[in-house]
Amino acid sequence: MGEEEGVTGTAAPARAPRFWGWAAPTPRALYSAGWVLVPLRAFLGVTFLFAGLQKLANPAFFKASNPVSIQAQLAGAARRSPVHALVTPLAHVGVAVGLVLALAEVAVGLGALLGLWTRAAAAGGLVLSVLLFLTVSFHSSPYYTGSDLVFAFAWTPLLLAGSGGVLAADAMIANRARDAMGAPRRAVVPMSFAVVRRSCGVYAEGGCRVRNGAACEPAPCPFLAVRAPEPARLDVRELDRRTVAAMGVASAGATLLGLLAASGTAEAGRLVGGAKAVADTPVLGGPATAPGGGSTTTTAPASGGPPGTSAPAGTAIGAASVVPVGGAASFTDPKTGDPSLVVQPRAGEFVAFDAVCPHAGCTVAYQAAQRLFVCPCHGSEFSGTTGALRLGPATTGLTRIQVTEGPDGQLYVV
Ligand code: FES
Repeated sequence: MGEEEGVTGTAAPARAPRFWGWAAPTPRALYSAGWVLVPLRAFLGVTFLFAGLQKLANPAFFKASNPVSIQAQLAGAARRSPVHALVTPLAHVGVAVGLVLALAEVAVGLGALLGLWTRAAAAGGLVLSVLLFLTVSFHSSPYYTGSDLVFAFAWTPLLLAGSGGVLAADAMIANRARDAMGAPRRAVVPMSFAVVRRSCGVYAEGGCRVRNGAACEPAPCPFLAVRAPEPARLDVRELDRRTVAAMGVASAGATLLGLLAASGTAEAGRLVGGAKAVADTPVLGGPATAPGGGSTTTTAPASGGPPGTSAPAGTAIGAASVVPVGGAASFTDPKTGDPSLVVQPRAGEFVAFDAVCPHAGCTVAYQAAQRLFVCPCHGSEFSGTTGALRLGPATTGLTRIQVTEGPDGQLYVV
């Protein structure tokens, strides 16, 4: 709905285009305008659908102890985002936020792919992209290495033009409703202005000033009508009602499809990822994964260490025994509140780093096999022992946190 018929324009002097003629859009481009949007719709649709399903399929995304979880990413955003005041309360309901985000991505992706409520899907995609830009990739440097900003602008053609009427449920439903009511289908018919002028004379202020030398008729040129009038018999409100009802039915079908895909993907992710979950990064000062998959809680003692011991000055973050030799454990830096990782490269040797990626604020994860910290967002890599940058797009290494093991077996941030 809402497509405009006819051609609008202003008279141009009848001159053959010279040098700048090459820059004029060809009539062919006008005919193919709807098809031009198809690759963009396909890319955005598949990408957002995949992103949503991938989150649902990944148990680590909802597990607070994992550095790639939504909780860890919200914690990082709560400190670094320019809208951190809005993000901070959300960090307490991370699972709900992650679920809404994933389902919204699925809905937006399906809308773009099917061309159903395309403008609404584009508006949703634009909002999601801007939110992700403000919370995740705001600090990307240079700015164009953050994809969320690019996605935000990529949605604007679909927001402005809708589906383009090609391979789109929106257009099919509208045409079916018009067919059912005996109304002519709507279409934009590109026409060169020379043809309009031949038929209508010279356009001037909505009317025809000259028609092949004869006087214009009083009515304006029909080609220049902004919107062709509907046949008098057509009940436009009934047509709109039918169209919206049909789109509602199609939306219900798409929602069912999306929920089936989402729940199936989440279940498959739990089955496939269940075995991996036991090997998740253990947590200091929080629920730690116990051998056999159970969960125990290790509570860090108060700042300064337990009374009666010569514990180092600083804040205890948990038992050193939780950190596997050659592996890592996560903790929250008591000084900054950032998600952090402590590694035990050799028995009794501990090094710790702020896990917030210096590129755009995602939370890095430790890959024991490669002895690297790897950022899940754009792939930056950092040394597992020094935090030094190994691979961009980040331009600096991870921030070191000084930790030491006390005589009580606790690790302390000093
Ligand atoms: Fe971009 Fe880490 S946030 S590489």
